[in-house]
Amino acid sequence: MAIIDEIKAKAKQNKKRIVLPESMDKRTYEAAEKILKEGIADLIIIGTEEEIAENGKGYDLTGATIINPFTDPNKQKYIDKFVELRAKKGVTPEIAKEQMEKDYMYYACLMCKCGDADGAVSGACHSTGNTIRPALQLLKTKPGISSVSGFFLMEVPDCDLGENGLFVFADCAVDPNLDAPKLAEVAGLSAESFKNFVGADPKVAMLSFSTKGSAKHDDVTKVADAVALAKEKFPQYAIDGELQLDAALVEEVAKLKAPDSPVAGKANTLVFPSLEAGNIGYKLVQRLAKANAYGPVLQGLAMPVNDLSRGCYADDIVGVVAITAVQAQMSE
Ligand code: ACO
Repeated sequence: MAIIDEIKAKAKQNKKRIVLPESMDKRTYEAAEKILKEGIADLIIIGTEEEIAENGKGYDLTGATIINPFTDPNKQKYIDKFVELRAKKGVTPEIAKEQMEKDYMYYACLMCKCGDADGAVSGACHSTGNTIRPALQLLKTKPGISSVSGFFLMEVPDCDLGENGLFVFADCAVDPNLDAPKLAEVAGLSAESFKNFVGADPKVAMLSFSTKGSAKHDDVTKVADAVALAKEKFPQYAIDGELQLDAALVEEVAKLKAPDSPVAGKANTLVFPSLEAGNIGYKLVQRLAKANAYGPVLQGLAMPVNDLSRGCYADDIVGVVAITAVQAQMSE
């Protein structure tokens, strides 16, 4: 079974409430109809009657909860929560109301924060920054985690590397300023994500252009420092580095370059040294190896919120909703 079908099956076992704030986009409704029909999640769509009538015309939304952000009886509760969380940043009730009416992703995150939803998915018609920012501001990170990152679940066809072609790649989407402590967190969170979604033991390689000191540079030192921190902070996982990509993946190369490493030659979770490397790396594998790339899935947030590509299809939204629902199950 393809990994995404396994994830959908898992989502169906314990249905979660997922908010879709992009009522201005037709793909939301096409996806919603499929999600509701397949029983993947309980859906909440945020939008006015006009938005839903115009964009959702012809789609069967039976079972979805529709929240009008202008008339919702719970709105004051969300405004109060917004002010409570962000008063120090200058948010007043007027600003909160305006922000929630202008950008439904704020509304969605506040529903999550107040326990009225279990997760949110957006980004079909909003940039990554605009999708993630409300979650970072309102939901914040999990206890003990300072930095949110984004991983891709990569499914590479006809590949016997990793976990039979399955990998987690990170950070491919979020943090352009990855220092050693943040990279260490990416390693621990990615190991957890691999375990949760693939169901096998993670073997985390922290990548560089150097293997075990073969090159000297500040960028190599950053990764080596991150490896030491990650091993200390996440002793339950097999994490090693710094490793070049070939040493991480290929047994024969590992034997030559890092013979004592518990991860080299067997890595299934790849932590890139920078956002540039991670973002370019996943796209290379996706395009050249024709891999399925599911994500970016955010890790490290206190509640699950996920981003979509603006070029996504309705089926991509269905997949990301299933992933979000499974993350919500994991955080119970
Ligand atoms: N983890 C946790 N909190 C964070 C993080 C993070 N990685 N980054 C920012 N924050 C917090 C800040 O501390 C701040 O909190 P506060 O307001 O309570 O003080 C809040 O989020 C907002 O931070 P800003 O720095 O003001 O927000 P900004 O919008 O400038 O940056 C963002 C955050 C949007 C994630 C930015 O780093 C970004 O744009 N990253 C790149 C996203 C991107 O374009 N990815 C590539 C495309 S995705 C793809 O190709 C699939």
